[in-house]
Amino acid sequence: MSRPHRGRKFLIAMVGLPARGKTFTARKMVGYLSWLGYPTRAFNVGEQRRVVYGAGQTHEFFDPANEDGARQRNALAEEELGEAFAWLRAEGRIAIFDATNSTVERRRRIRERAVAEDRELLFVEIVNDDPAIVEANIRETKLRSPDYTGVPEERALDDFRHRIAHYEAAYQTLGESEGPWIRLRNRGSQVVINQVDGYVAGRVVFFLSNLQVTDRPVWLTRHGQSLYNVAGRIGGDAALSRAGQEYSQHLARHVRETFPPGGSLDVWTSTLRRTIQTADPLGIEVGPWKALDEIHAGVCDGLTYLEIEKRMPAEFEARRRDKFEYRYPRGESYRDVVQRIDRVLIELERYRTPVLVIAHRAVLRAMIAYYLQLPAEETPTVDVPLHTVIKLTPTAYGCLEERVALDPQVEG
Ligand code: F6P
Repeated sequence: MSRPHRGRKFLIAMVGLPARGKTFTARKMVGYLSWLGYPTRAFNVGEQRRVVYGAGQTHEFFDPANEDGARQRNALAEEELGEAFAWLRAEGRIAIFDATNSTVERRRRIRERAVAEDRELLFVEIVNDDPAIVEANIRETKLRSPDYTGVPEERALDDFRHRIAHYEAAYQTLGESEGPWIRLRNRGSQVVINQVDGYVAGRVVFFLSNLQVTDRPVWLTRHGQSLYNVAGRIGGDAALSRAGQEYSQHLARHVRETFPPGGSLDVWTSTLRRTIQTADPLGIEVGPWKALDEIHAGVCDGLTYLEIEKRMPAEFEARRRDKFEYRYPRGESYRDVVQRIDRVLIELERYRTPVLVIAHRAVLRAMIAYYLQLPAEETPTVDVPLHTVIKLTPTAYGCLEERVALDPQVEG
């Protein structure tokens, strides 16, 4: 089990009109912050509305002139906010309140409750004044929502545009006196930060200001089989075996077939020989990252698992019991690996060019755990075989994973 972090607890409240990407952003934050080890959960008022009143409310429900609707919507928001604070009182560390929160009055209420609960409060406002992006958001996400099941597309679109107009009529952007906030305009082309300080809020700002809304895939592979893999030894800086060299040729062919000629591809490796040698036949200049080096096995570096079990049974057992938190003496734990590859992932989020990452088993497990939003304790057992290319494609609702096994197939 992951150890709970000590420290302040946060409520992050989204702000923005419908169809601006609040839920997408909230989900990305949940994934990132949980992966960093902070128990994080989103509380979505729209989902709660569908539970309480059923899906299919038409735009009149959202009209500020509709007093019944306004009362019901306020009550829902208050209730969901209560859920968020209740979770923070229990095991939660960061709750994300995903609603429009589009008036000063609503936000004043949120602040009042955050103060009463003694929680840090950060607003994240998503502004989008590019009609093409808003239209794309509506088509990609809202029309698929249960609110419009069975409604003809044009009618659904028309209703949703009316719903937005109701919110627009009452919308008030964040003001300087509203405490710490971050505003992302037009998919991060402008980022404004107001009074943000502290480590966690700083991580959120850094993450969000690099976040791209993209379905650009990332390709991951371990290095080809190394002489240490053949011997069953961990760590080290061994060269490739003959089978590993063959894989590097197959990988180069696969890349040539997959990426059209002239299309750009960046290749990132670790600083260890086995990844650089694997990249060699690609004929692309690589960017080696120290942060992509394999988990450092400390005093166990260069040993086989059997040797560790015999010579250091207590260490072997401790790792078996909690592989995520276990730190090799003078080496690293999986949690350490997550923290050191944080900046690689943020760079990947920011990147527009396709990237092939050639790295190592533990490091790739940590990367896959981020993209697939796996709980920390599952990270150290993600299956990452040798000689396999893993393609991860982010979507609005998660991440698609495809695997291609290339020859020669080997164990290790
Ligand atoms: O055996 C290859 C290897 O990359 C080692 O260098 C590394 O210590 C190990 O895999 C990580 O896997 P696990 O965490 O399962 O021991």
